Amino acid sequence: MKALVINGPNLNMLGIREPGIYGSDNYETLVQICQDAADELGFDGIEVFQSNHEGAIVDRIQEAYGSIDGIVINPAAYTHTSVAILDALKAVAIPSVEVHISAVEEREDFRQVSYAGMACFARVTGEGLSGYARALEILASHLKEKQASI
Ligand code: DQA
Repeated sequence: MKALVINGPNLNMLGIREPGIYGSDNYETLVQICQDAADELGFDGIEVFQSNHEGAIVDRIQEAYGSIDGIVINPAAYTHTSVAILDALKAVAIPSVEVHISAVEEREDFRQVSYAGMACFARVTGEGLSGYARALEILASHLKEKQASI
């Protein structure tokens, strides 16, 4: 059971970026939270990927085909604009969970559309960085259920 966590633009600026919204923990802490959660949940491996470039995110999703069992994705600003990321997730059809650090549903109107979310079976918002651990937990249960039904 291998997981891939994908983070979009500006998430590498965690800790510096709008701490009132995203908190004061940095990106390294986010990576550590994902690695600890993956160990605890029994994943055989986890990669935590970040890019500020839409095409690089599309490339990483495509490369996951055949080698990754589940994806946790925070497309950041691309959540609200990227049909290309939605199409990539649909193309590989890897079970995916959408995560957002902030409660996007309580923010501006332009954040109310989520393209990537249309290809995800679950969504975690507003739980800060621990939302990634929650998203991995949801993913692990889904993958275990799927495995048991084969
Ligand atoms: C975000 C919410 C997005 O609207 C925003 O553009 C981000 C971060 C979040 O994790 O809360 O960059 O995805």
